[in-house]
Parts: sequence; C-alpha cells; structure tokens
Amino acid sequence: MSQFQKKVELVRTEVLARDVVRLTFDAPDIAAAALPGQFVMIQIVPGQDPLLRRPFSIHQTSSDGSLQILFKVVGRGTKLLAEVKAGEQLSLLGPLGKGFVLGDPDKACLVGGGMGIAPMLFLASRFCRQTQPVQAPTVILGARNRQELEPLLAGFQNLGLEVLAATDDGSLGHHGLVTDVLKGLSLAPGFTVYSCGPRPMMAAINHLCLQEKISCQVSVETVMACGMGACLGCAVPLKAGGYAHACSDGPVFESGDLLWSL
Ligand SMILES: Cc1cc2nc3c(=O)[nH]c(=O)nc-3n(C[C@H](O)[C@H](O)[C@H](O)COP(=O)(O)OP(=O)(O)OC[C@H]3O[C@@H](n4cnc5c(N)ncnc54)[C@H](O)[C@@H]3O)c2cc1C
Ligand code: FES
Repeated sequence: MSQFQKKVELVRTEVLARDVVRLTFDAPDIAAAALPGQFVMIQIVPGQDPLLRRPFSIHQTSSDGSLQILFKVVGRGTKLLAEVKAGEQLSLLGPLGKGFVLGDPDKACLVGGGMGIAPMLFLASRFCRQTQPVQAPTVILGARNRQELEPLLAGFQNLGLEVLAATDDGSLGHHGLVTDVLKGLSLAPGFTVYSCGPRPMMAAINHLCLQEKISCQVSVETVMACGMGACLGCAVPLKAGGYAHACSDGPVFESGDLLWSL
C-alpha cells in the first residue's frame, strides 16, 4: 500500500457551519492511493508548536487530484488549521490505516454522527461508483442541529442518495438519535452497517447490530501521535484481550472485535 509524505497546496477553505470547516488540498498522489476510512496526518505549522501532526479522515477525493478533509475546531491545532490561507502549503502524510471493507451496496447502511460524517461521503461515493444507478447504500446522518447537518447533506445528495437525517433538537429530520432511525429500518441479516461517530453512538450501534445479527464496521478515533504504529499511543482494547493500534490495525474495525464496556 503506497503512502506519501508530501507538501501540498491548500486550494480552498470553506466554513460550512460554526466551527465546521472543509479544506481542499491539491494532493494527487495521496488522493489516488486513498481508500474510504483511511486518514491523513497533517503538520499544521512548519515549526514546533503544535509539534504533533493531527489525524483527519479523508472526506472526499476527486480525479482532479484534490483531497478534502472536514473537521470541527476543538483545540489549538484545528483552530490554526482553519486559519491557513489558500495557496499555503502543508505537509500531509498518508493515506494511513486500514479502511472499510466494501460489501454489496444494496446491503450497506452508512451511519455517521457529528464529524464522523467525514469518512462517510468518501465511502458513499465509492459504493455509488461501483454500481450506479441501480443499487445504492442507505445513509443515516446525525448532528446536534440543522445548522450543523444541512451543509453536509449536499455531497450525498449530489451522488443521488437520499439521506435519513436525525438531529438532537429535532430541527432537521428525526428528533433524536441516529440509532433510533437505524432501529426503525429493521435491517435484515446480510446487511453491513458502516459507522463513524462519537464512541457512545458506535457502542449503541454495535449493541443493536449484535442483537439483529448484522455485521458492523466502525471507524474509531483515538489520540494519535505518529499515525504509523511506532509510538503505541493509540491503543484500543480488544474483546479477546489485549490491544490493537487504531492507526495501523484500524481505524476501521469489525465492531464485534472491540471491547465497548470501558
Ligand atoms: C483516525 C482519526 C480520524 C479523525 N478524523 C477526524 C475528522 O474527519 N474530522 C474531525 O473533526 N476530527 C477528526 N479526528 C479528530 C481530530 O484528529 C482531533 O479533533 C484533532 O486532532 C484535535 O486537535 P486540536 O489540536 O485542535 O485539539 P487538542 O488541543 O489536541 O485537543 C482539544 C480537544 O480535542 C480532543 N481530542 C484531541 N485529539 C483527539 C482525537 N484524535 N480524537 C478525539 N478527540 C481528540 C482532546 O481530548 C481535547 O478535548 C480524527 C481522529 C482520528 C484518530
Ligand atoms: S499513533 Fe503512534 S502507534 Fe498509533
């Protein structure tokens, strides 16, 4: 699997909602090698502060060589990243990690919550590329409110996909959790759920899928220092005992392989 460490140009910054930013890079090598669920480590400033690269899921790639990330400003690194100007160059390392294993599109249900929506667009576009226009995956997306969710729907709608939306305050779609929507679908065995979002959401999805005997892949987020299996900073506990590295064994895992009770 090819990986690259490249200085790439930031082409565009879009503020989609309060503190939610989408960046487009000109990164043809990384974009061409990337698979849904993989991530890049970004060196935010050339100097030492912040020292560590930050991990971001690959949100979308395009045949023109562009690569997008979608992120929320939560701390110093993401605040600085949101302030980088178009035309400036940043060092990207990637694509990293193991991504989603794609099954049948018509038996796929994608569930993204909050910034966990980021890798779902790339995954959806790969599913659609496989089979357009006959079969399409089911897509459920959730966020706190309409302001956060609405700007993220267009990418899926442009693929011709209908999105089942859920918001915490009921301002768009179902008033409640994505897991309520998933439960309401009563998916048959043979389906696979592909999920990324806050840990409690993915734990609930894992529980539901176990009950319904549905296969489930989750993309987990941990703090990561190196992103390449060298620092042991990203350990995730396994059901069978021991730990896996989120960066090199994941970030996508079969949900049933992980220990959710911690
Ligand atoms: C594989 C992977 C993919 C990711 N993809 C995305 C994405 O597509 N979009 C997105 O918005 N975020 C994503 N994240 C989370 C993102 O890396 C962190 O939000 C970012 O590193 C925070 O940097 P900071 O300097 O702004 O925050 P810091 O100042 O370092 O921390 C601010 C707050 O964020 C929390 N935080 C820091 N790092 C992480 C982390 N890795 N995961 C969860 N919480 C963290 C801290 O505990 C703290 O509460 C991903 C993380 C991983 C591991
Ligand atoms: S982040 Fe260093 S081992 Fe995973």
